[in-house]
Amino acid sequence: MTIRAVVRGAGHYLPARVVENSEFEATLDTTDEWIRSRSGIERRHFATETDTTSSMATAAAQAALADSGLEASDIDAIVLATSTADLTFPSAATMVQAQLGMTGGFAFDVQAVCAGFVYALSNANALILSGQARRVLVIGAETFSKIMDWTDRSTCVLFGDGAGALVLEAEEAAGEASDRGILACDLHSDGRLRDLLYVDGGVSTGTSGYLRMQGNQVFRHAVEKLAATAHTAMDRAGVTADDVDWIVPHQANIRIIQGTAKKMNVPMDRVVVTVQDHGNTSAASIPLALSVGRARGQIKDGDLLVTEAIGGGLAWGAVVLRW
Ligand code: UT7
Repeated sequence: MTIRAVVRGAGHYLPARVVENSEFEATLDTTDEWIRSRSGIERRHFATETDTTSSMATAAAQAALADSGLEASDIDAIVLATSTADLTFPSAATMVQAQLGMTGGFAFDVQAVCAGFVYALSNANALILSGQARRVLVIGAETFSKIMDWTDRSTCVLFGDGAGALVLEAEEAAGEASDRGILACDLHSDGRLRDLLYVDGGVSTGTSGYLRMQGNQVFRHAVEKLAATAHTAMDRAGVTADDVDWIVPHQANIRIIQGTAKKMNVPMDRVVVTVQDHGNTSAASIPLALSVGRARGQIKDGDLLVTEAIGGGLAWGAVVLRW
């Protein structure tokens, strides 16, 4: 017998403001056709005046709790993946803890940019396997609209805001690939590649800064590294491409999603795709896709999922789990 971190519920929140590609044509030298064909993005949500990373994270967490039938008081820990916390500190996770009315447990942020949610899942899994927590809220939430340079057409058309959350719970299992829950994690980073994707502000500059990206260079690393980390995680879990019901990838670019699926030998009808409606929501993109995939009826109880993501750092990784 062993312990597994099993998904009990999922939820998400998207801000009410929806911006179509065509809206950028008025202020930038770009077209709906360019954005759609190069990235697969058609529209994205942007935070309204009342949305913050912590408020969106709280709304997603409440939806995940409702889906799981649990209360905030049942939760031992909150692990929140974000690069756009409301303030430098305290963590957005502790703000969510307060907004949920939790008076116990512990909460912290994980900062691994677009790979943040796979890092957060891996951390939450470790907390559960080590017995430090029994029920963990794992959240990805971002307000990338706050770090966009609206004059830079090569980045500002690609990103969006939102939040998604899972409730994980410890469950005894046989210790086999057929178990429900997280079966394997694989994480990597290479800090030598920091200049490919970074924000040019922080405590060293006294500003919050703007996102800078060499998109085509990141693209070059993405497919190769994502397929490799997914294969490593699948080997560790003892599963093959034929066993996979759904790839739930980071939603940055449809061409990266297609290229990675091809390298993994998984057809596109077994890939959850939301990039057309959300754009790249960084650490929020995988939990958003998980929750939307559930709501669409794609992801069913017992399905085997592979999630994979890459972003600033560079940092990347994959998690294999059975819903
Ligand atoms: O989530 C974190 C990880 N991030 C990613 O995974 C993003 C990875 N990269 C990408 O998704 C793609 O590289 C992009 C969508 C960012 C760009 O696509 P690309 O096919 O790699 O294009 P490119 O950067 O090579 O640029 C091609 C051309 C350039 O013009 P020239 O130099 O060929 O004349 C750009 O200036 O497209 C131009 N361009 C645009 N044109 C119209 C760049 N942005 C735009 C735009 N509208 N918004």
